[in-house]
Amino acid sequence: MKPSRTWFDHLSAKNQTLQNTGKTVVLATLALTLLTVVPLYYLSLGYFPSFLWFRSSRSTSASLSRGHGGIQQSTGLPSSKQCDLFTGEWIPNPDAPSYTNSTCFTIHDEQNCMKFGRPDTEYMKWRWKPDGCELPVFNPLQFFELVRGKSMAFVGDSIGRNQMESLMCLLSSVEQPVEYQTLRWRYPTYNFTIANVWAPFIVKSKAADPDGPVYTALFNLYLDEFDDDWIKVVVDFDYVILAAEHWFFRPTMFYEKGQLVGCYLCRQENVTDLSSAYSYSKAYRTAFRALNSLQGFQGITFLRTFSPQHFENGFWNEGGRCVRTRPYKSSETRLEGLPLEMYLAQTDEFKVAEREGRKRGLKFRLLDITFTSLLRPDAHPNNYGHWPRENVTFYNDCSHWCLPGAIDTWNDLLLQMMKMEAGRSFDGS
Ligand SMILES: *[C@@H]1O[C@H](CO)[C@@H](O)[C@H](O)[C@H]1NC(C)=O
Ligand SMILES: *[C@@H]1O[C@H](CO)[C@@H](O)[C@H](O)[C@H]1NC(C)=O
Ligand SMILES: *[C@@H]1O[C@H](CO)[C@@H](O)[C@H](O)[C@H]1NC(C)=O
Ligand SMILES: *[C@@H]1O[C@H](CO)[C@@H](O)[C@H](O)[C@H]1NC(C)=O
Repeated sequence: MKPSRTWFDHLSAKNQTLQNTGKTVVLATLALTLLTVVPLYYLSLGYFPSFLWFRSSRSTSASLSRGHGGIQQSTGLPSSKQCDLFTGEWIPNPDAPSYTNSTCFTIHDEQNCMKFGRPDTEYMKWRWKPDGCELPVFNPLQFFELVRGKSMAFVGDSIGRNQMESLMCLLSSVEQPVEYQTLRWRYPTYNFTIANVWAPFIVKSKAADPDGPVYTALFNLYLDEFDDDWIKVVVDFDYVILAAEHWFFRPTMFYEKGQLVGCYLCRQENVTDLSSAYSYSKAYRTAFRALNSLQGFQGITFLRTFSPQHFENGFWNEGGRCVRTRPYKSSETRLEGLPLEMYLAQTDEFKVAEREGRKRGLKFRLLDITFTSLLRPDAHPNNYGHWPRENVTFYNDCSHWCLPGAIDTWNDLLLQMMKMEAGRSFDGS
């Protein structure tokens, strides 16, 4: 099995100029520094997620994590309830799922794993159990009460659309939406509007070669320029779910102040190699700045954090696949390497945005699904997003999520946060 890139590979990639002799020592020092800095970072956030606990020092870290106000501080939620929603385990739920592909008509073919013959169904039968409390499963009537007369936009890439379609399925037992405009739906009874806005890079971007190959064509990213296409849409929305991720792993050229400053995977000798965490961080900074400077915008912005992929035995274009049929326990895996870098890049920018937003009365909230989803290697379509032998580029999909399935929990979490936001107690109902 080809190991995915690790923590240390990234350190060495970033420090290519180090002399060989001193390299090991320097790397070890860097690693120690990072291992120290990361926990400090979390202490400064006010909580310490369990995926950063190192097994040998679990109890020490755990004790550090208590008594710092819980996760509310970092999600921006009021701290009335002390529960870290995002640290826990998946436990069996024989009652799941609450919908199927014959009760929900809006499942995209690529995520309709039942249709394409996925033989196992156990992956649908789990629910997320936070360590310190219960997370109620999605209640569509409660959701509709909260969003009556309101609007919600999912801005970003196809994983965001995947979450929106999960939400529409969870709502389908109460009401079917009417698509009144491309990618915009209204639920008539509740006058609730939902929209999907395509913005996979969340900043201004352009295909460098519009005729290039589908998944590997080069894109120009203008990392400090707003993408007006989504910004002018969301100005009237009450909820914005912002989330972009895997497009940042494509070959990309980075522009700042109109100048080329570097690239990722462009393989041009005279262009500085930078990482996708670099562009990710800058892109979020710009997107948040856009929202914080948007005249008339009064919505609540949820940053839905990085959605992990689970390719094993190679990347998506090397025959990698995801054939597991059970979730991991939280002790069996942990966030590291590239996904961790991406997660830290975006949550760092989130902290700044949340602080800035507070000054002008705008709310930013952290829908922190990364660790929860890291534990679900079994919940992707793999090769059940199309017919067998069908010639598709994305043959094994270990990025998107089957519907119904683990991604439904993102909406359990979203609803729970919206309820806490509304400051009303719906619990136990
Ligand atoms: C739903 O899944 C079943 C298999 O469980 C499949 O036979 C059927 O074609 C699917 N229906 C739709 C509408 O996708
Ligand atoms: C529906 O909600 C919108 C705001 O999203 C509001 O402007 C409009 O007046 C509402 N319509 C009705 C019939 O309540
Ligand atoms: C890189 O160098 C080549 C050859 O000197 C030149 O043609 C090209 O325009 C340069 N590319 C950039 C992005 O500066
Ligand atoms: C699949 O399609 C691509 C491009 O359309 C083509 O180059 C390739 O040969 C096809 N593969 C098979 C097995 O048909």
